Amino acid sequence: MSGNSIGVLFKVTTWGESHGPATGAVVEGCPSGIDLAEEDIQKWLNRRRPGSSPGSSARKEEDAVKILSGTFQGKTTGTSISLLIENTNFEKGAYENIKEVFRPGHGDFTYFRKYGIRDYRGGGRASARETAARVAAGAVAHKIILQAGVEVVAYTAALGGIAIKRGKNLEKTVTYEDIAANHLLCPDPDAARAIEDRLAEARRSGDSLGGIVEIIVRGCPPGLGEPVFDKVDADLAKALMSIGTVKGVEVGAGFKVAEMTGSEANDPMTPEGFLSNHAGGILAGITTGQNIVLRVAVKPIPSIEKLQKTIDVRGNPAELSVKGRHDVSAIPRIVPVCEAMVMIVLADCLLRQEACKFKR
Ligand SMILES: Cc1cc2nc3c(=O)[nH]c(=O)nc-3n(C[C@H](O)[C@H](O)[C@H](O)COP(=O)(O)O)c2cc1C
Repeated sequence: MSGNSIGVLFKVTTWGESHGPATGAVVEGCPSGIDLAEEDIQKWLNRRRPGSSPGSSARKEEDAVKILSGTFQGKTTGTSISLLIENTNFEKGAYENIKEVFRPGHGDFTYFRKYGIRDYRGGGRASARETAARVAAGAVAHKIILQAGVEVVAYTAALGGIAIKRGKNLEKTVTYEDIAANHLLCPDPDAARAIEDRLAEARRSGDSLGGIVEIIVRGCPPGLGEPVFDKVDADLAKALMSIGTVKGVEVGAGFKVAEMTGSEANDPMTPEGFLSNHAGGILAGITTGQNIVLRVAVKPIPSIEKLQKTIDVRGNPAELSVKGRHDVSAIPRIVPVCEAMVMIVLADCLLRQEACKFKR
């Protein structure tokens, strides 16, 4: 009955439901003496907020974070950091039509089967509201990885079947500014325009869309990751798969390796470094020092207006059209959530590697 925490030395626990009074995170293991103010966290939360892109829901969530513990005079004290985000924007009656029926593709059916209780208001813990707490905790992790010179950049690589055109060096050169240039967090402005049209079309037809988010980690030192069960790729995959709508994670060449020969897949090594990066910066669960390259498959949002077959809580056949304020796609709002989860894992890996050095 647990499952709400991630990490070993840098440990994040999230709590709260979409329609409770608040949601939040408790961050344990953050070293003392790090500058940390609410504004440092707020700027990350603002990127995740609904309403910032054409595919986003029209919900107006303030997402204002409060630091309740773990800092003194603007610096971390080394004790648990408790972060609170109040839920301020409820739409009364918005969930009446799903009170008795399960939304296909959502967690309604499985939560009911597991817990025997139907909290129909917005998905409870399965709601994207929970991801606000992840992003707030990720902002704390960012402080740690920054000190080690590690940078995490994520962006929209494809949405609704429209993919970005990539220059050969995209992974090396893409910046936060490139991505922030449009509200789809997409580094290719032409693709972004085509995606906007595709989103508008999907919204008109009462449907939703999926896509791909890419995450690049630059400046990562070699040696991070704890074989055999806490290999860095295993930890990253778990962290990313724990986000709602994520149905797949690829590392480096990903599923393409299945079609390659050994001579194609291996990254040749020279005294000057690796000649390619099919491994995505990870070998045997340990970072190589190259960029870590990750890709996540994001499924379409389950709540759609199009009429679908379903069942009610008693198992009777029913039909459902979900009205109200829903995202057309989890992308781009999921982009900062992916960044946050990767930063949380890397902060933990960095602290564990320090502990490993201490032993020597
Ligand atoms: C950023 C983000 C926004 C989301 N917005 C919605 C939404 O508006 N409506 C909805 O039904 N699901 C939304 N979801 C998806 C559900 O949370 C998710 O599909 C559900 O928890 C079931 O989990 P699964 O897709 O991993 O199986 C969103 C997910 C994310 C990450």
